[in-house]
Amino acid sequence: MERVRVVMLYGSQTGTAEEVTSNLVMQSRGSLFKCTACALDDYLVKDLVNEEMVVFVCSTTGQGEPPDNMKRFWKFIMRKNLPVTCLSGLKFGVLGLGDSSYAKYNFIAKKLFRRLQNLGGEILVPLGLADDQHEWGCDAVVDEWSRGLWQKLISIYPIKDGVRSAVVYSLDWPLVTVFCYLPAANHLEFSKKNPYLAALTGNQRVTATEHFQDTRLISLDISAVVDKMRYEPGDVVMVQPRNLPHNVNALLELLPYKPDMLITFHSLDDDDDSTTSLPKQATTLREIATNYLDFMSVPRRCFFQLLSHFSTDENEKEKLVELGQPEGTDERYSYANRPRRTILEVLQDFHLTASKISLERIFDIFPPIQPRAFSIASSPTRHRGKLQILVAVVRYKTRLQLPRQGVCSTWLASLQPNDRVPVWLKRGGIRFPAKQHCILIGPGTGIAPFRSAAHERTSNGNAGTTVFFGCRKSSSDFYFRDEWEDLDVDLHVACSRDQEDKIYVQHRIKEQGEKIWRLVSDENASVFVAGNSKSMPDDVKSTFLEIFRVHGAMTSQEADDYCRTMQSVKRYQQETWS
Ligand code: 2AM
Repeated sequence: MERVRVVMLYGSQTGTAEEVTSNLVMQSRGSLFKCTACALDDYLVKDLVNEEMVVFVCSTTGQGEPPDNMKRFWKFIMRKNLPVTCLSGLKFGVLGLGDSSYAKYNFIAKKLFRRLQNLGGEILVPLGLADDQHEWGCDAVVDEWSRGLWQKLISIYPIKDGVRSAVVYSLDWPLVTVFCYLPAANHLEFSKKNPYLAALTGNQRVTATEHFQDTRLISLDISAVVDKMRYEPGDVVMVQPRNLPHNVNALLELLPYKPDMLITFHSLDDDDDSTTSLPKQATTLREIATNYLDFMSVPRRCFFQLLSHFSTDENEKEKLVELGQPEGTDERYSYANRPRRTILEVLQDFHLTASKISLERIFDIFPPIQPRAFSIASSPTRHRGKLQILVAVVRYKTRLQLPRQGVCSTWLASLQPNDRVPVWLKRGGIRFPAKQHCILIGPGTGIAPFRSAAHERTSNGNAGTTVFFGCRKSSSDFYFRDEWEDLDVDLHVACSRDQEDKIYVQHRIKEQGEKIWRLVSDENASVFVAGNSKSMPDDVKSTFLEIFRVHGAMTSQEADDYCRTMQSVKRYQQETWS
Protein backbone atom coordinates (compact mmCIF):
# COMPACT_ATOMS: atom_id res chain seq x y z
CA MET A 1 0.00 0.00 0.00
CA GLU A 2 1.32 3.40 -0.86
CA ARG A 3 1.39 5.89 1.94
CA VAL A 4 1.11 9.63 1.57
CA ARG A 5 4.24 11.58 2.38
CA VAL A 6 3.91 14.54 4.72
CA VAL A 7 7.04 16.44 5.65
CA MET A 8 7.09 18.10 9.05
CA LEU A 9 9.70 20.76 9.55
CA TYR A 10 10.38 22.54 12.79
CA GLY A 11 12.26 25.57 13.97
CA SER A 12 12.78 25.07 17.65
CA GLN A 13 14.83 26.99 20.19
CA THR A 14 13.96 25.29 23.47
CA GLY A 15 12.62 22.01 22.06
CA THR A 16 8.87 22.71 22.26
CA ALA A 17 8.33 22.97 18.49
CA GLU A 18 10.39 19.81 18.08
CA GLU A 19 8.24 17.98 20.62
CA VAL A 20 5.02 19.19 19.00
CA THR A 21 6.32 17.90 15.66
CA SER A 22 7.32 14.54 17.06
CA ASN A 23 3.84 14.21 18.61
CA LEU A 24 2.32 14.83 15.18
CA VAL A 25 4.55 12.13 13.70
CA MET A 26 3.59 9.83 16.54
CA GLN A 27 -0.13 10.45 15.93
CA SER A 28 0.36 9.46 12.32
CA ARG A 29 2.08 6.14 13.01
CA GLY A 30 0.40 3.21 11.36
CA SER A 31 -1.79 5.55 9.35
CA LEU A 32 -2.09 6.38 5.68
CA PHE A 33 0.18 9.35 6.25
CA LYS A 34 3.85 8.77 6.33
CA CYS A 35 5.20 11.71 8.27
CA THR A 36 8.86 12.53 8.60
CA ALA A 37 10.18 15.26 10.85
CA CYS A 38 13.37 17.25 10.74
CA ALA A 39 14.77 20.59 11.83
CA LEU A 40 14.38 23.22 9.11
CA ASP A 41 18.11 23.71 8.72
CA ASP A 42 18.66 19.97 8.32
CA TYR A 43 16.23 19.89 5.42
CA LEU A 44 17.58 20.36 1.89
CA VAL A 45 15.59 23.47 1.11
CA LYS A 46 15.71 23.11 -2.66
CA ASP A 47 13.65 19.89 -2.27
CA LEU A 48 10.72 22.00 -1.16
CA VAL A 49 9.68 22.52 -4.78
CA ASN A 50 9.18 18.76 -5.14
CA GLU A 51 7.13 18.22 -1.98
CA GLU A 52 3.39 17.86 -2.01
CA MET A 53 2.63 18.51 1.63
CA VAL A 54 4.72 20.27 4.23
CA VAL A 55 3.85 21.27 7.76
CA PHE A 56 5.94 23.95 9.47
CA VAL A 57 6.04 24.23 13.24
CA CYS A 58 8.10 27.17 14.37
CA SER A 59 8.58 29.33 17.36
CA THR A 60 9.60 32.97 17.52
CA THR A 61 12.45 33.93 19.80
CA GLY A 62 13.70 37.18 21.31
CA GLN A 63 12.58 40.21 19.38
CA GLY A 64 10.98 38.38 16.47
CA GLU A 65 13.97 36.22 15.57
CA PRO A 66 13.81 32.74 14.03
CA PRO A 67 15.17 29.89 16.20
CA ASP A 68 18.82 28.91 15.63
CA ASN A 69 17.96 25.72 13.76
CA MET A 70 15.97 27.54 11.06
CA LYS A 71 18.18 30.58 10.50
CA ARG A 72 19.68 29.23 7.30
CA PHE A 73 16.24 28.27 5.94
CA TRP A 74 14.89 31.70 6.87
CA LYS A 75 17.59 33.52 4.96
CA PHE A 76 16.90 31.37 1.92
CA ILE A 77 13.11 31.59 1.90
CA MET A 78 13.21 35.36 2.38
CA ARG A 79 15.51 35.89 -0.62
CA LYS A 80 14.12 38.53 -2.90
CA ASN A 81 15.05 36.71 -6.11
CA LEU A 82 12.97 33.53 -5.60
CA PRO A 83 10.54 32.98 -8.52
CA VAL A 84 7.02 33.91 -7.39
CA THR A 85 5.45 30.60 -8.41
CA CYS A 86 8.22 28.31 -7.23
CA LEU A 87 6.04 26.64 -4.60
CA SER A 88 2.94 26.29 -6.71
CA GLY A 89 2.77 22.51 -6.20
CA LEU A 90 2.99 22.73 -2.43
CA LYS A 91 0.22 22.43 0.14
CA PHE A 92 1.36 23.81 3.45
CA GLY A 93 0.35 24.40 7.05
CA VAL A 94 2.07 26.64 9.59
CA LEU A 95 1.78 26.35 13.33
CA GLY A 96 3.47 29.11 15.32
CA LEU A 97 4.54 28.90 18.95
CA GLY A 98 4.88 32.27 20.62
CA ASP A 99 4.36 34.40 23.64
CA SER A 100 1.91 37.31 23.46
CA SER A 101 3.74 39.22 26.18
CA TYR A 102 6.37 40.00 23.53
CA ALA A 103 5.77 42.73 20.98
CA LYS A 104 6.57 40.55 17.96
CA TYR A 105 4.18 37.78 18.93
CA ASN A 106 4.50 34.77 16.60
CA PHE A 107 6.20 37.02 14.10
CA ILE A 108 8.10 34.22 12.34
CA ALA A 109 5.05 31.97 11.82
CA LYS A 110 2.97 34.87 10.51
CA LYS A 111 5.67 36.03 8.12
CA LEU A 112 6.42 32.49 6.93
CA PHE A 113 2.74 31.84 6.25
CA ARG A 114 2.51 34.96 4.09
CA ARG A 115 5.77 34.21 2.33
CA LEU A 116 4.78 30.63 1.40
CA GLN A 117 1.50 31.95 0.07
CA ASN A 118 3.30 34.61 -1.99
CA LEU A 119 5.55 31.95 -3.49
CA GLY A 120 2.51 30.10 -4.82
CA GLY A 121 1.94 27.59 -2.02
CA GLU A 122 -1.61 26.43 -1.30
CA ILE A 123 -2.94 26.74 2.24
CA LEU A 124 -3.78 23.34 3.73
CA VAL A 125 -5.05 24.60 7.07
CA PRO A 126 -5.37 28.09 8.54
CA LEU A 127 -2.38 29.53 10.34
CA GLY A 128 -2.23 28.27 13.94
CA LEU A 129 -0.92 30.64 16.59
CA ALA A 130 -0.21 29.10 19.98
CA ASP A 131 0.39 31.41 22.92
CA ASP A 132 2.48 30.54 25.94
CA GLN A 133 0.50 33.13 27.90
CA HIS A 134 -2.67 31.05 27.58
CA GLU A 135 -3.67 29.45 30.89
CA TRP A 136 -2.97 25.99 29.38
CA GLY A 137 0.11 27.17 27.54
CA CYS A 138 0.67 26.44 23.85
CA ASP A 139 -0.99 23.01 24.14
CA ALA A 140 -4.49 24.46 23.86
CA VAL A 141 -4.01 25.68 20.30
CA VAL A 142 -1.63 22.86 19.36
CA ASP A 143 -4.27 20.19 19.95
CA GLU A 144 -7.02 22.05 18.15
CA TRP A 145 -4.79 22.87 15.20
CA SER A 146 -3.51 19.26 14.93
CA ARG A 147 -7.06 17.97 14.87
CA GLY A 148 -7.88 20.39 12.05
CA LEU A 149 -4.80 19.26 10.14
CA TRP A 150 -5.70 15.56 10.32
CA GLN A 151 -9.30 16.26 9.44
CA LYS A 152 -8.18 18.14 6.37
CA LEU A 153 -5.70 15.45 5.33
CA ILE A 154 -8.28 12.71 5.73
CA SER A 155 -10.73 14.70 3.65
CA ILE A 156 -8.16 14.98 0.85
CA TYR A 157 -7.14 11.32 1.10
CA PRO A 158 -10.19 9.28 2.02
CA ILE A 159 -9.64 5.99 3.81
CA LYS A 160 -9.04 3.05 1.50
CA ASP A 161 -8.67 -0.72 1.83
CA GLY A 162 -9.96 -0.85 5.37
CA VAL A 163 -6.88 1.05 6.52
CA ARG A 164 -7.84 3.78 8.86
CA SER A 165 -5.80 6.58 10.16
CA ALA A 166 -4.04 6.57 13.50
CA VAL A 167 -5.44 9.99 14.14
CA VAL A 168 -8.61 8.19 15.10
CA TYR A 169 -7.47 8.81 18.61
CA SER A 170 -8.00 12.48 18.48
CA LEU A 171 -11.13 12.17 16.38
CA ASP A 172 -12.70 9.22 18.13
CA TRP A 173 -12.84 6.97 15.13
CA PRO A 174 -12.47 3.18 15.05
CA LEU A 175 -9.08 1.65 15.52
CA VAL A 176 -6.53 0.78 12.93
CA THR A 177 -5.81 -2.86 12.22
CA VAL A 178 -2.71 -2.62 10.09
CA PHE A 179 0.67 -1.50 11.20
CA CYS A 180 4.05 -1.61 9.70
CA TYR A 181 7.55 -2.58 10.51
CA LEU A 182 10.24 -3.73 8.17
CA PRO A 183 13.04 -6.20 8.64
CA ALA A 184 16.43 -4.60 9.17
CA ALA A 185 18.44 -3.94 6.07
CA ASN A 186 21.65 -5.83 5.75
CA HIS A 187 24.05 -3.11 6.80
CA LEU A 188 27.76 -3.48 6.69
CA GLU A 189 28.25 -1.09 9.54
CA PHE A 190 26.68 -1.75 12.89
CA SER A 191 23.93 0.72 13.67
CA LYS A 192 20.70 1.15 15.54
CA LYS A 193 18.99 -0.97 12.90
CA ASN A 194 21.71 -3.54 12.98
CA PRO A 195 23.46 -3.57 16.36
CA TYR A 196 26.32 -5.89 17.21
CA LEU A 197 25.41 -8.33 19.97
CA ALA A 198 28.61 -8.14 21.98
CA ALA A 199 29.28 -10.79 24.62
CA LEU A 200 29.84 -9.43 28.10
CA THR A 201 33.21 -10.47 29.48
CA GLY A 202 33.37 -8.35 32.62
CA ASN A 203 30.99 -6.61 35.00
CA GLN A 204 33.15 -5.43 37.83
CA ARG A 205 32.10 -3.13 40.64
CA VAL A 206 34.83 -0.50 40.88
CA THR A 207 33.59 1.32 43.98
CA ALA A 208 34.02 -0.06 47.50
CA THR A 209 31.00 -2.04 48.74
CA GLU A 210 30.30 0.49 51.48
CA HIS A 211 30.41 3.40 49.00
CA PHE A 212 26.98 4.88 48.20
CA GLN A 213 27.45 4.63 44.44
CA ASP A 214 27.62 1.35 42.58
CA THR A 215 29.82 1.97 39.54
CA ARG A 216 30.65 -0.81 37.08
CA LEU A 217 33.43 -1.33 34.59
CA ILE A 218 31.58 -3.21 31.85
CA SER A 219 33.76 -5.09 29.34
CA LEU A 220 32.44 -6.32 26.02
CA ASP A 221 34.10 -8.63 23.55
CA ILE A 222 34.36 -7.19 20.04
CA SER A 223 37.35 -9.29 18.95
CA ALA A 224 35.39 -10.92 16.11
CA VAL A 225 34.52 -7.54 14.58
CA VAL A 226 37.50 -5.26 15.35
CA ASP A 227 37.67 -4.16 11.75
CA LYS A 228 34.03 -3.18 11.66
CA MET A 229 34.07 -1.56 15.08
CA ARG A 230 37.07 0.73 14.89
CA TYR A 231 37.10 3.49 17.45
CA GLU A 232 39.37 6.17 18.83
CA PRO A 233 39.59 7.73 22.29
CA GLY A 234 36.76 10.27 22.54
CA ASP A 235 34.30 8.04 20.67
CA VAL A 236 31.02 6.89 22.11
CA VAL A 237 29.31 3.52 22.23
CA MET A 238 25.54 3.33 21.97
CA VAL A 239 23.93 0.63 24.10
CA GLN A 240 20.41 -0.61 23.42
CA PRO A 241 19.16 -1.70 26.84
CA ARG A 242 16.53 -4.28 27.63
CA ASN A 243 13.93 -4.43 30.35
CA LEU A 244 14.52 -6.57 33.41
CA PRO A 245 12.49 -9.81 33.65
CA HIS A 246 10.60 -8.84 36.82
CA ASN A 247 9.44 -5.59 35.22
CA VAL A 248 8.46 -7.40 32.02
CA ASN A 249 6.42 -9.87 34.08
CA ALA A 250 4.68 -7.04 35.89
CA LEU A 251 3.68 -5.49 32.55
CA LEU A 252 2.55 -8.77 31.01
CA GLU A 253 0.29 -9.42 33.98
CA LEU A 254 -1.63 -6.26 33.12
CA LEU A 255 -2.07 -6.92 29.40
CA PRO A 256 -4.85 -9.19 28.15
CA TYR A 257 -2.61 -11.43 26.03
CA LYS A 258 -0.77 -14.68 26.47
CA PRO A 259 2.83 -13.56 26.89
CA ASP A 260 4.30 -16.45 24.91
CA MET A 261 1.84 -16.41 22.04
CA LEU A 262 3.52 -15.89 18.65
CA ILE A 263 2.84 -12.66 16.78
CA THR A 264 3.85 -11.71 13.23
CA PHE A 265 4.26 -8.20 11.90
CA HIS A 266 3.21 -6.99 8.51
CA SER A 267 4.67 -4.09 6.72
CA LEU A 268 2.50 -1.24 5.51
CA ASP A 269 4.88 -0.27 2.76
CA ASP A 270 8.19 -1.21 1.29
CA ASP A 271 10.29 1.76 2.10
CA ASP A 272 9.55 2.11 5.76
CA ASP A 273 12.25 4.26 7.25
CA SER A 274 11.64 3.57 10.92
CA THR A 275 15.06 3.54 12.46
CA THR A 276 14.47 0.72 14.90
CA SER A 277 14.74 -2.86 13.77
CA LEU A 278 11.70 -4.77 14.89
CA PRO A 279 11.34 -8.54 14.84
CA LYS A 280 11.59 -10.12 11.42
CA GLN A 281 10.00 -13.40 12.34
CA ALA A 282 7.10 -14.39 14.51
CA THR A 283 7.88 -13.40 18.06
CA THR A 284 6.23 -13.26 21.46
CA LEU A 285 4.83 -10.42 23.47
CA ARG A 286 7.39 -11.23 26.15
CA GLU A 287 10.21 -10.65 23.65
CA ILE A 288 8.62 -7.44 22.46
CA ALA A 289 8.17 -6.15 26.00
CA THR A 290 11.74 -7.07 26.86
CA ASN A 291 13.46 -5.66 23.81
CA TYR A 292 11.36 -2.88 22.33
CA LEU A 293 8.83 -1.27 24.63
CA ASP A 294 9.80 1.48 27.02
CA PHE A 295 7.47 1.21 29.99
CA MET A 296 9.94 2.32 32.66
CA SER A 297 10.07 5.98 31.64
CA VAL A 298 7.75 8.75 32.80
CA PRO A 299 4.79 8.95 30.38
CA ARG A 300 4.32 11.98 28.18
CA ARG A 301 0.98 13.68 27.69
CA CYS A 302 0.14 11.78 24.51
CA PHE A 303 0.45 8.50 26.42
CA PHE A 304 -2.51 9.50 28.60
CA GLN A 305 -4.42 10.63 25.53
CA LEU A 306 -3.85 7.34 23.73
CA LEU A 307 -4.55 5.23 26.80
CA SER A 308 -7.86 6.98 27.44
CA HIS A 309 -9.16 5.58 24.14
CA PHE A 310 -8.96 2.04 25.42
CA SER A 311 -10.88 2.76 28.60
CA THR A 312 -14.32 1.30 29.05
CA ASP A 313 -14.36 2.15 32.73
CA GLU A 314 -15.95 5.56 33.27
CA ASN A 315 -13.82 6.57 36.24
CA GLU A 316 -10.54 5.60 34.69
CA LYS A 317 -11.44 7.17 31.38
CA GLU A 318 -12.41 10.44 32.96
CA LYS A 319 -9.15 10.61 34.89
CA LEU A 320 -7.05 9.69 31.84
CA VAL A 321 -8.76 12.26 29.64
CA GLU A 322 -8.08 14.84 32.32
CA LEU A 323 -4.41 13.89 32.54
CA GLY A 324 -4.10 14.00 28.74
CA GLN A 325 -5.65 17.43 28.31
CA PRO A 326 -3.59 20.56 27.95
CA GLU A 327 -5.29 21.94 31.07
CA GLY A 328 -4.20 18.84 33.00
CA THR A 329 -0.55 19.92 33.06
CA ASP A 330 -0.35 20.64 36.79
CA GLU A 331 -2.08 17.44 37.70
CA ARG A 332 0.05 15.40 35.33
CA TYR A 333 3.13 17.00 36.75
CA SER A 334 2.30 16.12 40.32
CA TYR A 335 1.00 12.64 39.46
CA ALA A 336 3.70 11.53 37.02
CA ASN A 337 6.62 13.90 36.44
CA ARG A 338 7.53 15.01 39.94
CA PRO A 339 7.57 11.55 41.57
CA ARG A 340 9.00 10.05 38.33
CA ARG A 341 6.12 7.59 38.08
CA THR A 342 6.73 5.05 35.31
CA ILE A 343 4.37 3.98 32.51
CA LEU A 344 4.21 0.56 34.22
CA GLU A 345 3.05 2.15 37.47
CA VAL A 346 0.48 4.24 35.64
CA LEU A 347 -0.87 1.09 33.99
CA GLN A 348 -1.04 -0.56 37.41
CA ASP A 349 -3.10 2.39 38.64
CA PHE A 350 -5.34 2.13 35.57
CA HIS A 351 -5.41 -1.64 35.33
CA LEU A 352 -8.96 -1.86 33.95
CA THR A 353 -7.88 0.24 31.00
CA ALA A 354 -4.55 -1.59 30.66
CA SER A 355 -6.46 -4.83 30.19
CA LYS A 356 -8.14 -3.32 27.11
CA ILE A 357 -5.01 -2.21 25.23
CA SER A 358 -5.14 -3.64 21.73
CA LEU A 359 -2.21 -5.57 20.40
CA GLU A 360 -2.22 -3.60 17.15
CA ARG A 361 -1.52 -0.46 19.10
CA ILE A 362 1.24 -1.75 21.27
CA PHE A 363 4.02 0.07 19.38
CA ASP A 364 2.03 3.27 19.32
CA ILE A 365 1.14 3.43 22.94
CA PHE A 366 4.58 2.53 24.29
CA PRO A 367 7.56 4.56 23.17
CA PRO A 368 10.52 2.55 21.89
CA ILE A 369 13.35 1.91 24.37
CA GLN A 370 15.95 4.56 23.64
CA PRO A 371 19.61 3.64 23.28
CA ARG A 372 22.03 5.24 25.76
CA ALA A 373 25.41 6.77 24.91
CA PHE A 374 28.55 6.02 26.92
CA SER A 375 32.05 7.42 26.50
CA ILE A 376 34.39 4.58 25.65
CA ALA A 377 36.85 3.95 28.51
CA SER A 378 39.11 1.44 26.77
CA SER A 379 41.94 2.06 24.33
CA PRO A 380 41.79 0.47 20.88
CA THR A 381 45.51 -0.35 21.06
CA ARG A 382 46.01 -1.35 24.68
CA HIS A 383 42.65 -3.18 24.98
CA ARG A 384 42.40 -4.50 21.44
CA GLY A 385 39.24 -6.56 20.84
CA LYS A 386 37.56 -5.07 23.90
CA LEU A 387 35.14 -2.27 24.51
CA GLN A 388 34.86 -0.94 28.04
CA ILE A 389 32.54 1.58 29.64
CA LEU A 390 32.26 3.00 33.13
CA VAL A 391 28.66 2.95 34.30
CA ALA A 392 27.28 4.61 37.43
CA VAL A 393 24.16 2.65 38.39
CA VAL A 394 21.31 5.14 38.61
CA ARG A 395 19.09 4.74 41.66
CA TYR A 396 17.25 7.39 43.63
CA LYS A 397 14.25 7.91 45.87
CA THR A 398 11.15 9.97 45.24
CA ARG A 399 7.98 10.07 47.29
CA LEU A 400 6.97 6.77 45.71
CA GLN A 401 7.82 3.73 47.75
CA LEU A 402 10.04 1.88 45.31
CA PRO A 403 13.38 3.50 44.44
CA ARG A 404 13.66 4.74 40.86
CA GLN A 405 16.18 2.80 38.78
CA GLY A 406 17.92 3.74 35.56
CA VAL A 407 16.84 1.28 32.86
CA CYS A 408 20.17 0.91 31.12
CA SER A 409 22.58 1.05 34.04
CA THR A 410 20.48 -1.34 36.14
CA TRP A 411 20.20 -3.74 33.24
CA LEU A 412 23.96 -3.63 32.53
CA ALA A 413 24.77 -4.17 36.21
CA SER A 414 22.52 -7.26 36.25
CA LEU A 415 24.32 -9.02 33.38
CA GLN A 416 26.38 -12.20 33.63
CA PRO A 417 29.40 -13.27 31.55
CA ASN A 418 28.42 -14.15 28.01
CA ASP A 419 25.13 -12.25 28.14
CA ARG A 420 24.68 -10.18 24.97
CA VAL A 421 24.63 -6.39 24.75
CA PRO A 422 23.39 -4.71 21.52
CA VAL A 423 25.90 -1.97 20.64
CA TRP A 424 27.08 0.30 17.83
CA LEU A 425 29.58 3.13 17.68
CA LYS A 426 29.19 6.87 17.30
CA ARG A 427 31.92 9.37 16.60
CA GLY A 428 32.51 11.51 19.65
CA GLY A 429 32.98 15.25 19.77
CA ILE A 430 36.55 15.19 21.08
CA ARG A 431 39.86 14.19 19.54
CA PHE A 432 43.18 14.23 21.39
CA PRO A 433 45.98 15.75 19.31
CA ALA A 434 48.90 13.28 19.16
CA LYS A 435 51.59 15.92 18.84
CA GLN A 436 50.36 18.37 21.47
CA HIS A 437 50.26 18.16 25.23
CA CYS A 438 46.76 17.31 26.56
CA ILE A 439 45.35 18.44 29.91
CA LEU A 440 42.50 16.09 30.81
CA ILE A 441 40.08 16.91 33.61
CA GLY A 442 37.58 14.22 34.56
CA PRO A 443 36.14 13.83 38.05
CA GLY A 444 33.97 10.75 38.69
CA THR A 445 32.93 8.81 35.58
CA GLY A 446 34.18 11.80 33.57
CA ILE A 447 37.52 9.99 33.64
CA ALA A 448 36.27 7.36 31.16
CA PRO A 449 37.33 8.99 27.85
CA PHE A 450 40.60 10.12 29.44
CA ARG A 451 41.51 6.64 30.64
CA SER A 452 41.07 5.62 27.00
CA ALA A 453 43.25 8.52 25.85
CA ALA A 454 45.90 7.93 28.55
CA HIS A 455 46.39 4.30 27.49
CA GLU A 456 46.35 5.15 23.80
CA ARG A 457 48.82 8.03 24.16
CA THR A 458 51.14 5.91 26.31
CA SER A 459 50.99 3.01 23.82
CA ASN A 460 51.65 5.31 20.85
CA GLY A 461 54.29 7.47 22.54
CA ASN A 462 52.29 10.67 21.91
CA ALA A 463 53.04 14.09 23.41
CA GLY A 464 52.64 14.55 27.18
CA THR A 465 49.43 14.13 29.14
CA THR A 466 48.36 15.74 32.40
CA VAL A 467 45.33 14.23 34.14
CA PHE A 468 43.17 15.67 36.92
CA PHE A 469 40.85 13.15 38.53
CA GLY A 470 38.38 13.75 41.36
CA CYS A 471 36.71 11.29 43.69
CA ARG A 472 35.29 11.26 47.20
CA LYS A 473 37.83 9.03 48.94
CA SER A 474 40.95 7.31 47.68
CA SER A 475 39.69 4.09 49.30
CA SER A 476 36.18 4.14 47.83
CA ASP A 477 35.87 5.56 44.30
CA PHE A 478 39.37 6.11 42.92
CA TYR A 479 38.75 4.62 39.48
CA PHE A 480 41.59 2.69 37.75
CA ARG A 481 43.75 3.31 40.78
CA ASP A 482 46.17 0.48 39.96
CA GLU A 483 46.68 1.53 36.36
CA TRP A 484 47.92 5.10 36.54
CA GLU A 485 51.42 4.18 37.72
CA ASP A 486 52.15 2.36 34.47
CA LEU A 487 50.82 5.16 32.33
CA ASP A 488 52.90 7.96 30.95
CA VAL A 489 50.82 10.72 32.55
CA ASP A 490 51.22 13.39 35.18
CA LEU A 491 48.30 12.50 37.48
CA HIS A 492 46.75 14.83 40.09
CA VAL A 493 43.98 13.46 42.26
CA ALA A 494 41.49 15.51 44.28
CA CYS A 495 39.82 13.42 46.98
CA SER A 496 36.96 15.58 48.19
CA ARG A 497 36.25 13.76 51.43
CA ASP A 498 39.57 12.38 52.66
CA GLN A 499 40.00 15.50 54.80
CA GLU A 500 37.88 18.13 56.52
CA ASP A 501 37.80 20.64 53.66
CA LYS A 502 36.54 19.72 50.22
CA ILE A 503 39.27 19.41 47.62
CA TYR A 504 38.04 19.37 44.02
CA VAL A 505 39.84 19.05 40.68
CA GLN A 506 39.81 22.83 40.26
CA HIS A 507 41.82 23.20 43.49
CA ARG A 508 44.47 20.85 42.12
CA ILE A 509 44.46 22.74 38.82
CA LYS A 510 45.01 26.00 40.68
CA GLU A 511 47.93 24.49 42.62
CA GLN A 512 49.50 23.62 39.27
CA GLY A 513 48.65 27.04 37.84
CA GLU A 514 52.11 28.07 36.74
CA LYS A 515 52.82 24.77 35.03
CA ILE A 516 49.42 24.76 33.36
CA TRP A 517 49.97 28.26 32.03
CA ARG A 518 53.35 27.26 30.60
CA LEU A 519 51.81 24.19 28.89
CA VAL A 520 48.98 26.24 27.43
CA SER A 521 51.02 29.26 26.36
CA ASP A 522 54.36 27.68 25.36
CA GLU A 523 53.40 24.18 24.29
CA ASN A 524 50.04 24.85 22.73
CA ALA A 525 48.40 22.36 25.09
CA SER A 526 44.72 21.45 24.67
CA VAL A 527 42.29 21.20 27.59
CA PHE A 528 39.46 18.66 27.85
CA VAL A 529 36.84 18.57 30.58
CA ALA A 530 34.39 15.68 31.00
CA GLY A 531 31.88 14.66 33.60
CA ASN A 532 28.77 15.53 35.45
CA SER A 533 27.28 18.73 34.15
CA LYS A 534 26.28 20.42 37.42
CA SER A 535 28.68 23.19 38.36
CA MET A 536 32.00 21.40 37.78
CA PRO A 537 32.59 22.56 34.18
CA ASP A 538 31.95 26.22 35.10
CA ASP A 539 34.09 25.97 38.23
CA VAL A 540 36.94 24.51 36.22
CA LYS A 541 36.63 27.21 33.58
CA SER A 542 36.75 29.96 36.22
CA THR A 543 39.96 28.42 37.50
CA PHE A 544 41.48 28.53 34.02
CA LEU A 545 40.46 32.17 33.67
CA GLU A 546 42.16 32.87 36.99
CA ILE A 547 45.32 31.11 35.80
CA PHE A 548 45.34 33.21 32.63
CA ARG A 549 44.97 36.39 34.71
CA VAL A 550 47.54 35.52 37.37
CA HIS A 551 50.19 33.63 35.43
CA GLY A 552 49.54 35.11 32.00
CA ALA A 553 49.27 38.66 33.42
CA MET A 554 45.95 39.29 31.66
CA THR A 555 42.99 41.49 32.48
CA SER A 556 39.61 39.79 32.98
CA GLN A 557 38.60 40.77 29.47
CA GLU A 558 41.83 39.43 27.97
CA ALA A 559 41.46 36.16 29.89
CA ASP A 560 37.87 35.76 28.63
CA ASP A 561 38.95 36.43 25.05
CA TYR A 562 41.88 34.04 25.36
CA CYS A 563 39.58 31.28 26.60
CA ARG A 564 37.03 31.98 23.88
CA THR A 565 39.73 31.70 21.24
CA MET A 566 40.87 28.39 22.73
CA GLN A 567 37.28 27.15 22.55
CA SER A 568 36.84 28.27 18.95
CA VAL A 569 39.92 26.34 17.81
CA LYS A 570 38.87 23.35 19.93
CA ARG A 571 41.75 23.69 22.35
CA TYR A 572 39.29 23.93 25.25
CA GLN A 573 36.47 21.39 25.03
CA GLN A 574 33.84 20.11 27.40
CA GLU A 575 31.88 16.88 27.23
CA THR A 576 29.33 16.80 30.00
CA TRP A 577 26.36 14.69 30.94
CA SER A 578 23.72 14.79 33.64
P1 2AM B 1 31.58 15.64 46.58
O1 2AM B 1 30.58 14.59 46.17
O2 2AM B 1 32.35 15.24 47.79
O3 2AM B 1 30.98 17.00 46.69
C1 2AM B 1 33.25 12.91 41.66
O4 2AM B 1 31.87 12.92 41.75
C2 2AM B 1 33.85 13.99 42.52
O5 2AM B 1 33.46 15.28 42.03
C3 2AM B 1 33.43 13.93 43.97
O6 2AM B 1 34.58 13.95 44.73
C4 2AM B 1 32.58 15.17 44.14
O7 2AM B 1 32.69 15.73 45.43
C5 2AM B 1 33.26 16.11 43.16
N1 2AM B 1 32.50 17.34 42.87
C6 2AM B 1 31.24 17.70 43.26
N2 2AM B 1 30.93 18.93 42.83
C7 2AM B 1 32.01 19.41 42.17
C8 2AM B 1 32.32 20.62 41.50
N3 2AM B 1 31.45 21.63 41.41
N4 2AM B 1 33.54 20.74 40.94
C9 2AM B 1 34.44 19.74 41.00
N5 2AM B 1 34.21 18.58 41.61
C10 2AM B 1 33.02 18.39 42.18
